[in-house]
Amino acid sequence: MEKNIESHLIEKRVFRPSREFGKNARIKSLAQYRKMYRESIRSPDRFWAREAKELIWHRSWKKVLDWKAPFAKWFVGGQLNLSENCLDRHLAGPRRNKAAIIWEGEPGEKRTLTYQQLHREVCRFANVLKRNKIRKGDRVIIYLPTTPEAAIAMLACARIGAVHSVVFGGFSADSIRDRIADSGATALITADGSYRRGTIVPLKNNVDHALSGGTSVERVIVFRRAGNEIHMEEGRDLWWHRELQYVDANCEPVPVDSEHPLFILYTSGSTGKPKGILHTTAGYLLGIYATTKYVFDIRDEDLFWCTADVGWVTGHSYVVYGPLSLGATTLMYEGAPNWPEPDRFWRIIEDYRVTILYTAPTAIRAFVRWGDNWVKKHDLSSLRLLGSVGEPINPEAWMWYHKTIGGGRCPVVDTWWQTETGSILITPLPGAIPTKPGSATLPFFGVDAAVVDESGEEVGANVGGKLIIRKPWPSMLRTIYGDRERYRKQYWSEFKGRYLTGDGARRDADGYFWIVGRIDDVLNVAGHRLGTSEIESALVAHAHVAEAAVVGRPDEMKGQAVVAFVTLKGSVAPSTGLKAELLDHVSEHIGAIAKPDEVRFAEALPKTRSGKIMRRLLKEIASGKTVTGDTTTLEDFSVLAKLSEEEVSSGTRERKISLSGL
Ligand code: PRX
Repeated sequence: MEKNIESHLIEKRVFRPSREFGKNARIKSLAQYRKMYRESIRSPDRFWAREAKELIWHRSWKKVLDWKAPFAKWFVGGQLNLSENCLDRHLAGPRRNKAAIIWEGEPGEKRTLTYQQLHREVCRFANVLKRNKIRKGDRVIIYLPTTPEAAIAMLACARIGAVHSVVFGGFSADSIRDRIADSGATALITADGSYRRGTIVPLKNNVDHALSGGTSVERVIVFRRAGNEIHMEEGRDLWWHRELQYVDANCEPVPVDSEHPLFILYTSGSTGKPKGILHTTAGYLLGIYATTKYVFDIRDEDLFWCTADVGWVTGHSYVVYGPLSLGATTLMYEGAPNWPEPDRFWRIIEDYRVTILYTAPTAIRAFVRWGDNWVKKHDLSSLRLLGSVGEPINPEAWMWYHKTIGGGRCPVVDTWWQTETGSILITPLPGAIPTKPGSATLPFFGVDAAVVDESGEEVGANVGGKLIIRKPWPSMLRTIYGDRERYRKQYWSEFKGRYLTGDGARRDADGYFWIVGRIDDVLNVAGHRLGTSEIESALVAHAHVAEAAVVGRPDEMKGQAVVAFVTLKGSVAPSTGLKAELLDHVSEHIGAIAKPDEVRFAEALPKTRSGKIMRRLLKEIASGKTVTGDTTTLEDFSVLAKLSEEEVSSGTRERKISLSGL
């Protein structure tokens, strides 16, 4: 295994934090980071208790951590409310009339909500939820575009102790239905439509499909965003703006226990069924609060722009909760980065004087391809810090980001984390930790990360292995919703009591982490997680498909591209029409982001004698390599020869990338 995930990239460039940046930063030197890090590992209770005191509590905790592996409880006995921490606490002082959210819609509308205004809207919408019998602990699906209403809906749920589950707007009706079924949600909040590259995404339509046939959802609240024609189901669907007429703006935050569930966010794993990652209140809040404070070193004067869609964990943690918990100003943009032209991001940065930009390597690679001229047209001198997240960033893209976007003066923080981790775990601190292009550098406070071999032994410098976390951390997932056993098995069983990330990594001689990417059956396409078996299940659900195997192949733009090997049922003949049909089929079942880039029909798939598909071979074939390594377990050698003969160009090799949800 080590051989597979060893990285051959040795990067020698080092960028030290400028004296200027270090002087003003909260963590000013490597020595200060190391001292605090040591304390956070040796005395986590003391460290986290000190940080937690910066939050607002209704009742203080009795115990910082109760760890009965693999189940953690943080700040046991404490009570707080997350929306109060993001809103009410800022109303007493000068932040009251400061912008909390600055929003731009894809067609160009602009809106600003001050903390006072956002507080009012959240209180009113929380009253709408209450009016519709949504209570503490109830699950609410949010299927909204990146608009202030998404933040309002999330914060309103948190205000009354309801548990939100945001579903990314690019997911299909089937995906919504699955998430409703798994979460048992009784309410759903959506919009008529949203804008993406100038066209309207029919969100409400998708919801209607998802709900047809009956689900646990009793109420649908619809925000009017795009004005497109929609169907409103009598007795079930209500307009957001009409509901507001019946409520006032007084809504006291409901204090909840530290471990009260805050949200469920579904993500892909190595089985066909998405996992409902459950995060709870106090630990999650503390994780995003501390990382936003130290990693982005956010200030009152900053305008922070995280380009993620609210449907992903990055949107939860760093578009909404992180910046608001610190009283910062967060910028939200609804649409695509290349609409109407490829300089939309740079235009936004110039127009609003954005100071911190947090985006994904897949976007950065697209910008590189679109050319520097789009960048040069704009004044980006307001930027002071850049961040990257979602996948490994290749050093050349890092250098381009640093030089062309950051003008060589902005530190780049390459932040490694996952839906499961809730907040950033491995990252540079911009005033303290020298960066190396392509490395997420060192662990954040309290994070005991290591790279180990198959037996769980830590490997030496520059040897590849599995990335694990050896201690619980406040914003860790608490379980997979409704499936404690899967939680235990998936994350904590391979190395008992240690968290398995699913990523491969190595540490260099300076202890810096270099994340190689997933080593399980999960793909990372344009920064989005896709389970190969999820796509396989969708393909096999098609009437003509007998069997399917999905693998990743390296892709310059998207990181990985999806290649599907498909065998057809008896009398069905392969055709281009069928290929297109299969692509649509996957789109319908999961969403357009899961569409394979290439479908290859095969007579048979390479299998071991015990019937397991040999994905390693398929990966090699998909990336156009000759098959190397061990094939002795292969059952039928002729299968391999036939697969390799398949025309590489036979697939739909769409080079267009959608950058969905950035
Ligand atoms: O493989 C790692 C990659 O993204 C995975 C997590 O995906 P998701 O849960 O969708 O969350 C994405 C946003 C936090 C990880 O297992 N990944 C994320 N950030 C990085 C990364 N790989 C390398 N470097 C990163 N900075």
